[in-house]
Amino acid sequence: MNYRHHFHAGNFADVFKHVVLGRLIAYLQKKEKGFLYLDTHAGRGRYDLERAEKGDSRARVAEWPAGIGRLLTQVDPPPGVSAYLDLVRRCDRRSGNLGANVRFYPGSPWLAKEGMRPQDRMVLCELHPAEHAALAAELGRTPRVSVRDVNGYHAIRALLPCPEKRALVLIDPPFEDANEWASILAGLSDAMQRMPSCTVAIWYPLTQRARVDSFFAELQGSDLPATWVAELSVAGPGSTLSLRGCGIVVVNPPWQLDLEVSQLAAWLAPVLAQEVGASGELIWLVRET
Ligand SMILES: C[S@@+](CC[C@H](N)C(=O)[O-])C[C@H]1O[C@@H](n2cnc3c(N)ncnc32)[C@H](O)[C@@H]1O
Repeated sequence: MNYRHHFHAGNFADVFKHVVLGRLIAYLQKKEKGFLYLDTHAGRGRYDLERAEKGDSRARVAEWPAGIGRLLTQVDPPPGVSAYLDLVRRCDRRSGNLGANVRFYPGSPWLAKEGMRPQDRMVLCELHPAEHAALAAELGRTPRVSVRDVNGYHAIRALLPCPEKRALVLIDPPFEDANEWASILAGLSDAMQRMPSCTVAIWYPLTQRARVDSFFAELQGSDLPATWVAELSVAGPGSTLSLRGCGIVVVNPPWQLDLEVSQLAAWLAPVLAQEVGASGELIWLVRET
């Protein structure tokens, strides 16, 4: 496990994932009944962007200026983006930054925790010892939050179905090895068998179009309930960028969230573009019946 999210925190892919996560939580909370938020690959919960450039011995180009850095300068963003930016600024201030530029960036656990109601509950899984320790220090004493050093895919089997009878599962793995796609499909299958009504969001990198398309085909052959995918490309198909986009598959999406997310993806694409050919779109993989 060499992956450290620090170097990527606040990049365009984090921005896209976290905006969609915020909308998922907001839409699920349109119903009074509480739910379980299960973050299978939680990370450390909060990131110091100053460390993003020098967290290890290698010199790195910081990724956040082309992500959250660009968003913070936008005038009049759509409400779904404003809500996310408010949380980013809140995290930064609470972390003690008084400067004009954002320094501390919230990860998915921090963002989800801010939205939790008394009837909601969170389980956060992180296997890397240092990341787990940081996450436990950050959120381990928060009421209704459980931080665990377990394999997130195993947690799906251990925790679903949950007593709340409603769940949002975020699967956001590091894609360090080629087996990750198969692990995601197995995890999703476990979730659907154990709790067919749960909402599952899966983040994936757009590095090879063909690999992503075969993932879509595998999903479409999996007898899934309603499923869409929102994808953001920061460059066109011929780009040589190592990461030219990313996407989020949502199984059992909340009603009408597709309309807002497709607008947000289209709005974010030109803001986060790195080359010509940037785009944002939403495609239904399995239509609602
Ligand atoms: C992409 S990062 C998570 C970022 C986080 N979800 C966010 O949006 O802020 C992936 C994390 O998963 C952890 N990880 C890798 N394999 C894991 C596994 N099988 N179970 C739990 N955590 C894992 C890595 O250590 C890394 O911190």
